[in-house]
Amino acid sequence: MDLHNDIDKILISETEIEAIVTDIAKKISEDYKGKKLLLLCILKGSVVFMGDLMKHISIPVQIDFMKVSSYGSGTTSGNLKIKLDLNRDDLDTTDILIIEDIIDSGKTLSSLTKYLAERGAKSVRSCTLLDKPSRREVAFTPDYTGREIPDEFVVGYGLDYDEDYRALPFVGILKREVYENK
Ligand code: PRP
Repeated sequence: MDLHNDIDKILISETEIEAIVTDIAKKISEDYKGKKLLLLCILKGSVVFMGDLMKHISIPVQIDFMKVSSYGSGTTSGNLKIKLDLNRDDLDTTDILIIEDIIDSGKTLSSLTKYLAERGAKSVRSCTLLDKPSRREVAFTPDYTGREIPDEFVVGYGLDYDEDYRALPFVGILKREVYENK
């Protein structure tokens, strides 16, 4: 099975992604100089972005992982389902930067930011590769955004459809027939 055949169009090429990642990494390196920065990767979609981003950041960083999903209509931290929690006791001295592949309704980042603040993190900010502003249900603006995109079904570079396509090196639009005929 060649997954490339299922792609209608490449939305962001490998070269474009590299430029986006380099640019964001430079900004983060400047903004967090002298701070204890924790890059918090939200599984699973963000692993590829996280891996590339951390290599380009020129200041020391620590990394950690959470797996979460938001549910319901609210945006409080109580609407967050935590499948893998952050297991550290030094959050009061830690500046957290949440790393996401995509922000859609905004519920996940909104609830997660509240949760980490309630746990006493020194600061909580967020960085997303992709943003679909047209899909927003709750007001939320990430601190670092790679690219705003239209409301298309995107896969690759960590993003999946039914757990496939995550390893593609670009962000592509999935052919309609792939998900409409299932
Ligand atoms: C995606 C993405 C965010 C969330 C964004 O994760 O990685 O965590 O959805 O959506 P929202 O802005 O509407 O809250 P997903 O649940 O698809 O899990 P995955 O990363 O494991 O594929």
